[in-house]
Amino acid sequence: MVGETLQIGLAGLGTVGSGVYEALLRNRDLLEARAQISYQVRRIAVRDKTRKRGVEVDETLLTDDWRDLVDDDEIDIVIELIGGTTEAYQLVRAALEKGKPVVTGNKALLAEYGSTLFRLSREKGVPLYFEASCGGGIPIVQSLQHSLICNKVSAVVGIINGTSNYVLTAMDKEGLSLREALQQAQSLGYAEPDPLLDINGWDAAHKGLILAMLAYGAPLGSEAISVTGIEHIEPVDFSFARRLGYTIKLLVVIRYHERRNALELRVQPSFVPQQHLLSKVDGVFNAIAVCGDIVGETIFYGRGAGKNPTSSAVVGDVVLAMRECRLPGYHTGFLPYAEGVKALPVEATETSCYVRFRVKDCHGVIASIATIFSQHDIGIAATSSAEGEHDGTEGWNHLVFMLHVCCWGQLQEALGDIRKLPTVVGEPVVLRIESFQTS
Ligand SMILES: NC(=O)c1ccc[n+]([C@@H]2O[C@H](COP(=O)([O-])OP(=O)(O)OC[C@H]3O[C@@H](n4cnc5c(N)ncnc54)[C@H](OP(=O)(O)O)[C@@H]3O)[C@@H](O)[C@H]2O)c1
Repeated sequence: MVGETLQIGLAGLGTVGSGVYEALLRNRDLLEARAQISYQVRRIAVRDKTRKRGVEVDETLLTDDWRDLVDDDEIDIVIELIGGTTEAYQLVRAALEKGKPVVTGNKALLAEYGSTLFRLSREKGVPLYFEASCGGGIPIVQSLQHSLICNKVSAVVGIINGTSNYVLTAMDKEGLSLREALQQAQSLGYAEPDPLLDINGWDAAHKGLILAMLAYGAPLGSEAISVTGIEHIEPVDFSFARRLGYTIKLLVVIRYHERRNALELRVQPSFVPQQHLLSKVDGVFNAIAVCGDIVGETIFYGRGAGKNPTSSAVVGDVVLAMRECRLPGYHTGFLPYAEGVKALPVEATETSCYVRFRVKDCHGVIASIATIFSQHDIGIAATSSAEGEHDGTEGWNHLVFMLHVCCWGQLQEALGDIRKLPTVVGEPVVLRIESFQTS
């Protein structure tokens, strides 16, 4: 064993914090043998010290002021698991300023304040670790930083929100509506009481920004990513997808456009070919495909959230932080290295698309929509229709257009014109068709 016992300050004892505390106790012998460093949890910050918890803790360790962790000179490492961005930012900032390595699982914090915090981390020479912030138990952060370091990454494509993937899987396999699938996810504890950020795509977007930063060195903010959630997907979209040889997944897509030195960064419900491994990633599981010029395609698969998988990632980082404390100066955290990379405007991104319209059941409707696509130079690969419900006065149909590769901006202009047609009802549903070409 090397040196004195390292002292850990744990902020947050909720789902993940309690899992981390238990893992640090349960596997102490294993961790100390592997890392050759002894440790102790010295202080735990919570919001409410009187709250009953599902984990047994020595009450003298508890404080309701996280500053007690930062101000304690005996504490070597701080683990931030309180969530949110305001106090978490103050806590992480204060700990780095005091020279304490920080481990966090907070993707919202990194999406909002990542560049400021990494700059501070660099200035102070104190690392900030964040494996748990992306993909829960999947070791994607360290893999991108270390194992795949020799690769120029051409694309990262992933399913990185378990709740939305559970909902899409239940809609696909059990024919549920989005509402029914979400209720099922909530009753099984797979979705928060307020699942807004899961359904509207922003949880995946926060993680996408972290992946982009790791793969391309560019600390980009929330304004750099184009985000569409799964709110408008209906069971009929799965019927069309199946018939056409696809399944629907909420994908984060990150692709580098070398000529423009710009990153395409988007979260969108997308058609994934049934033969591709990502189409088989069901329920709460996550998967991230990384394509590098040397390694080729790799896929990382596992549980993207939950107490134990997330704790596994946090404790892995704690060991890195402990090693850093023993070998100060060898900074194993992330340092941005490509601040000049810009985000590619979403209007300039190109894919094939599936567009489903609700149209009145009358003659000439296909031709009128096709004419507008053609006026905007958008080619049609196929059309398909299915009967919709009847609202009592007039029948209507689902009408699907599979479009050839076109610019997103061009498509939006065409849809603007199509919306004005009296035969088109409501908002069209647009899904990208991912080709998974790696360059
Ligand atoms: N849950 C997951 O599966 C998962 C997966 C990956 C990443 N994460 C990230 O991990 C972090 C924690 O998530 P969680 O699910 O564990 O949250 P949680 O269950 O809500 O727990 C939050 C904990 O932080 C404490 N806390 C909140 N504000 C505080 C403050 N100002 N000062 C001191 N303590 C404070 C709470 O205290 P009380 O107990 O007294 O209320 C609670 O113990 C988040 O950033 C989340 O995004 C979570």
